[in-house]
This record gives sequence, structure tokens and C-alpha cells, in this order.
Amino acid sequence: MLFSTISLNVMSQQDKAISINTDQPIAPIQSTMWGVFFEDINFGADGGIYAEMVKNRSFEFSKPLMGWSIKGKKIKEGDALVLNRQGSPSNPRFLRLAIKDAAKGDAGISNEGFRGMGIKKDLRYDFSLMYRQHRGNVWLHVELIDDKNAVIGTAQLKLGNADANWHKQEVSLVATSTIEKGRLNIWFEGNGLVDVDMVSLFPGDTWKGRKGGMRADMVQMLADMKPGFIRFPGGCIVEGMDLANRYQWKKTIGPIENRQLIMNRWNVEFGHRPAPDYFQTFGLGFFEYFQLAEDLGAQPLPILNCGMACQYNTAELVPLEDLGPYIQDALDLIEFANGDENSKWGKIRAGMGHAKPFHLKYLGVGNENWGPQYIERAKLFQQRIKEKYPEIKLIFSSGTDPDSERFHYLNNELRAMKADIIDEHYYRSPDWFLKNASRYDSYDRNGAKVFAGEFAAHNNNKITGSDKNTWQAAIAEAAFMTGLERNAEVVNMASYAPLFAHSESWQWAPDLIWVNNLQVYGTPNYYVQKLFSTNKGTHVLGITKDAKAISGTDGLYASSVIDTAKKEIIIKIVNTEKTALNQTIVLKGKKKFSVGTITTMDGDPEGKNSFEQAKSFSPKEQNISVKKQQLVLNLSPNSFNVLKLKYQ
Ligand code: AHR
Repeated sequence: MLFSTISLNVMSQQDKAISINTDQPIAPIQSTMWGVFFEDINFGADGGIYAEMVKNRSFEFSKPLMGWSIKGKKIKEGDALVLNRQGSPSNPRFLRLAIKDAAKGDAGISNEGFRGMGIKKDLRYDFSLMYRQHRGNVWLHVELIDDKNAVIGTAQLKLGNADANWHKQEVSLVATSTIEKGRLNIWFEGNGLVDVDMVSLFPGDTWKGRKGGMRADMVQMLADMKPGFIRFPGGCIVEGMDLANRYQWKKTIGPIENRQLIMNRWNVEFGHRPAPDYFQTFGLGFFEYFQLAEDLGAQPLPILNCGMACQYNTAELVPLEDLGPYIQDALDLIEFANGDENSKWGKIRAGMGHAKPFHLKYLGVGNENWGPQYIERAKLFQQRIKEKYPEIKLIFSSGTDPDSERFHYLNNELRAMKADIIDEHYYRSPDWFLKNASRYDSYDRNGAKVFAGEFAAHNNNKITGSDKNTWQAAIAEAAFMTGLERNAEVVNMASYAPLFAHSESWQWAPDLIWVNNLQVYGTPNYYVQKLFSTNKGTHVLGITKDAKAISGTDGLYASSVIDTAKKEIIIKIVNTEKTALNQTIVLKGKKKFSVGTITTMDGDPEGKNSFEQAKSFSPKEQNISVKKQQLVLNLSPNSFNVLKLKYQ
């Protein structure tokens, strides 16, 4: 048994009681308190949640045939050419194929997918392409192929009559078996000269069944967290390695064939984790992002480039006098999200199928930018945005780390300019998280609010990939998060980072959720985040031991909230000791408690989850009873415990 509860008439002799004042809420908890950080890193978007299965569908990668192979004995030298159409800067390249007396299997192209294609038995797959048939009469045979080269799904389509225009055609096929690393073949039969572009394959089981949509299993993991916000699009990709490589939201909306692909900076960022096939197609662009936030009931929280490229890379700067278009991008994004259908950008949103506004309330200016050059730019953004949209809460960066001279400079400057919210990042050891659980106890209650915008406990550098997602890291985060919750008056939002990683394509670890082409699992860290965000409460309650906040006392970390709508109090207690602890809890106040639940996660600090054992570390719930306003818990070693007690 993981723990036991014993109702006592008298307080246990061996422990000092934890005391909770259930009648005096200290501060409200914002609906945004616990959210998610989404960045296209680790193949999180392209090759990840964006369900497109064809890699390099538009032949726009630096190497235009990367991911593709040309197949068949009837394709000779000069029969398959990459052309660059003039006057189409967003999608210039396409493939021209000369098909000569070809039968099925004589002339074709094949796509390897993102580390293969995850194909599921009996599922429908939607194939489409854009084509132009200059002459001839060509049939297409579309095939799903397994790892032994067997056909596991097939469909045919006939191209339309030859003319000078581009057309789109679609056909669906059903897979006959499941395979993690399938591929796609397209055979051309007949005679003709054909141009192809935007060759695409999507599974039929996308989130909400949307065509060209997202992987439902990955979105479901987010939906289960009930996140208060979604930070997007990052992260370092906001900045870009240089300004040309920055994220530009206007290039991510409208027809997907017009969304200009760029290299994902994580393609080359880490020499030891190269990803030469990592590009951003923006199939998951800003419209889809706002829609996702709406689906999940989360506040959208976009972070925009502030006229500065990554300071670890080129550190390119836009001169202050040229910053206008960057600020205009921010103003236009607000209009895109919130403007009515008569506004320029509201009309574009409505044209994409969302007449109603997305109710954007928060906007971040810059990601991990620093120095006086950042403050100068931040002030200009603040002035112009507040002039037009005083109601939008602006989030500013305090740089890359939480305790350096750089941080203190930015923190002071941002507070002096009355920033609404300051974004703090910490990737630190588990020990740092434990020692800093009381970080916000002394923060000014009346100044800028804090967004713990990126955090994760990073243990031992000798371990890599998903092995870094240990229970030791997760429990340190849980302990730290009790400190965030206790200080919800100051900390209004928090998100673990990064969110997703593909097991064969990651650049950065640890990560919250790991995926392959067919499966997804939550790390111990995921379940910690989920326990906080699904047990948010409405107000902070005081919880003490020895009349002090519980932040390391006897190896314990604790916070307590009340949910006035559900009529329950929620207590979170982390025992970081190697031994079990009997702990009495005394509920003070007029509210009467009798029943509740305790949900526990515990185990070996070195333990972790995996595809095979996806729920080794996951919450286990039991009923408990309260007698005479007290209960005694046996807190297991290295445990995170969430108690929910109903009151009348
Ligand atoms: O989360 C991974 C990276 O860490 C983010 O892109 C960046 O903001 C931070 O340095």
C-alpha cells in the first residue's frame, strides 16, 4: 500500500501538525495559473502534432528532394526536374515529371515521412496534391508501404485534362495493417508532362476530424491537462538565428500552399544533435494555434519577435527607427485575434472560417532577450500597444536565467517601466528547484506579476533524451510548484518547457511528453503538471507547520487552495525524504470536513515512464475520511500527494 490514513481523536505525538486556515483565502488564483509552452522544437510541430505525414511536401527544403526518392525504370536522366517558378516567393519550387509509356511501377516518387510514417490498420488516409498537366493523360496510383515493401493501402486517381493551370486533387485510402515506419509511393501511369507540388497525406483521425489538422493523441494529452493558457510559438524560434529566420505570424496564415517555409533553427542549433530535415512549414500557423487554444478553453499567449535575433547566435538588431513594422505586426495580431469582421485583419480571420474573435488578452514581447537594447525596444512596444489596446496584458522577458546580473538588471528595469508581467526562465538542477521553492515569498505583491514561462529540472548531464525525465526531476518541480501556488498573488502563470519531443528526432531534453509515429506518453513531470492544473482551486489558503510556510521543513513542501465553486479544499504535499513520514493535518475554521480523496505519485527517484511502461509514474487515488477536523497521513518516501476534501 502506498500510504495509509488513520483518523485520530488526538494529535499524533511524533509529529508537528500541518495547519490550514480554511476560512481565510489569501489571494485569488488566476485561471491562467498553469498552462503549456508550445514550441516547434524536437519535431513538436512539423513531424509531430501537425499531422502531415509527407516530409518536404512542397520541395522547398534546402535540398529540394530531401525525403523523396525517384523510382522506376522509365524515369531516365532529365525526366524528373526541380523547377523554380518565378513570381511565387512563398512556394517557388515544384517537381516536373516526364511520363513516357509508363505502367504502374515504372515511374514514381516515394516519400519516407518523418522517421517513417506511422500507419494504423483500418484507418482512412487522405492524400492530396497540386498538379499541372501540360500534356498527356496520366493516372496516379497512391500506395502505403510497410517496412518490408508490401503495399498496405492503395488508391487511384486520374489527373484532369491538360491545361496551363494548377489544380488540387484528393483521394482517400484505408490501411490494411499497422506499421510505425511506413512510407508513401506515388506511381504515374500513362503518358504526359506533369508538375507536382504540395504532395500531402493526413490521417483520418485528426483532432476534431479537421482536414489537414493535428494528431489527436497529442492534442488529447494537452486537453487532459486543462491548461489555462498556451504559450506559442516559443521559445527560441521566435527570435530566429538571424532576423530573416525569425517567426513571422503573418506568413503562417491563409492557404497552406502560400505559407513560406523556413529552416527551423533547431535544424542546426546543436552540433551534437543535427536535424538537417527540420523545417517549419507553418501548416500549424497562428490561426490553427488560436483555434487550438479555443478548443482547449485556454488563453492564447503569443510571444512575438521584438526586433532582436537570438543573442546566442547573430544577435542582429533592428535599429530603433526601423522598429515600426515589428510593432505593427503586434498590433495587427491583436486585430487578427480580436478585431471584428470589418477590420482588415479580423476580415482575414473570418475568411479563414472564424468570424467570432479569439479574445486575446496577453501578448509577449521578445523571448529570452536581454540588455539595454531589449529594454529600449520593449518600451517602444509597450507605448504603442498600450496606446491602442490598454486592456492587453504585456509580458516582457527577464532573459535566460533567474539569478544573474543580467536578470537583476532586466527585472529592475521592467518593474520601473511598470511591466504587467515578467517572464522568468529556469532550467536548473533538482536541488536548485528545492532550494528556490520560497523564491516568490518575498516578491512585491503590488508590482509586476510573474510568468514562470519556461522551467524544467535538469538532472545529471550524463543521461540523455527521455532518460532525463526522472521522478527525481519531477518531484523537485512539484516541490517548487507549491511555492508558485503559495505565491499565486504574484505568479499568475507557469509552464514547463519544452512540451513535446519525438523519440528519434529530439534536440532538447527533458521534455514533458514523448512521442513516436504511433504512440505518446506523459513523463512523470507531465503528471505533476496535470495534477496542479486540474486541481487549481480559486483562492490560496494559508498552510503552515511550526507557524511557517512549508518549504523544506522536515523535507516537506506544501501548498493549499480552496475551490469555492466545487466546495473543496485541495492540499498538495511533497515529501522529498527517503523515509515515510506520519503527518497530522489540522483543518482550522468553521467549514466541516468528512470525506475526500488523496492522489499520490511516488517511487524510485531514478524511475521514469516509457512507451512500454507509460504509466509507471502516474497518479493513484484513494478515498480518505476526516475525523474531528483532523487527519493523519503516512506520506510515502519521495511522494507527491494531492488531497481533496469536500466541505459543507
Ligand atoms: O525550451 C527550449 C528553449 O529553452 C527555448 O526555445 C528557449 O526559450 C530556452 O532557452
